[in-house]
Amino acid sequence: MEISLAGRVLLGTILICIAAVMAAPVLSEDQLRRGEYLATIMNCAGCHSTGALRGRPQPRGHLAGATVGFQVPGHGIVYPPNLTPDRETGLGTWSGTDIVKAVRSGVRPDGRVLAPAMPWHSFGALTDADAEALAAYLKTVKPVRHRVPATVDGAEPAKAPFLALRIPE
Ligand code: HEC
Repeated sequence: MEISLAGRVLLGTILICIAAVMAAPVLSEDQLRRGEYLATIMNCAGCHSTGALRGRPQPRGHLAGATVGFQVPGHGIVYPPNLTPDRETGLGTWSGTDIVKAVRSGVRPDGRVLAPAMPWHSFGALTDADAEALAAYLKTVKPVRHRVPATVDGAEPAKAPFLALRIPE
């Protein structure tokens, strides 16, 4: 049977797609469990879950971003963002490499360096395998649509609560 040129091109494309899918790294269950374990002991949810910083974590707010911020000298008031894979309000458009970079070196994809209230100085000690497991786990969390308050810098007053350092006179 003769296969037309268009048929051969289509067949070739299908074979390339199958090869690409097979070559993609497969995340093992163990790796995801390790990522979840790390997220737990590194307390991501303690800051990044809705209600957690008020002692009232919301059942559907797991890792979905805080409504309580941190006032950090030189950085304004920053609110722990939504880490779920929601594309508009969370990390849905970030690659695993973007997440690893932000967690270990504090650098966001847009180049901004995160305030040290996000403990990236300590998290920099994560091994490659652990950082990748953590990022892979975050990608499996259920996406939640929740936008945290914008960073407050300059003179405008904060509209959402925040933690600040008070130095006695
Ligand atoms: C002590 C509180 C705290 C803990 C614990 C913490 N974070 Fe954060 N994180 C923050 C704050 C505050 C920011 C925002 C900093 C800024 O905007 O400058 C942030 C920002 C981030 C960002 C950047 C997101 C964005 O949209 O810009 C990522 C990614 C992130 N954290 C991941 C994690 C992960 C993963 C863990 C656990 C391994 C974790 N964080 C633990 C407070 C925390």
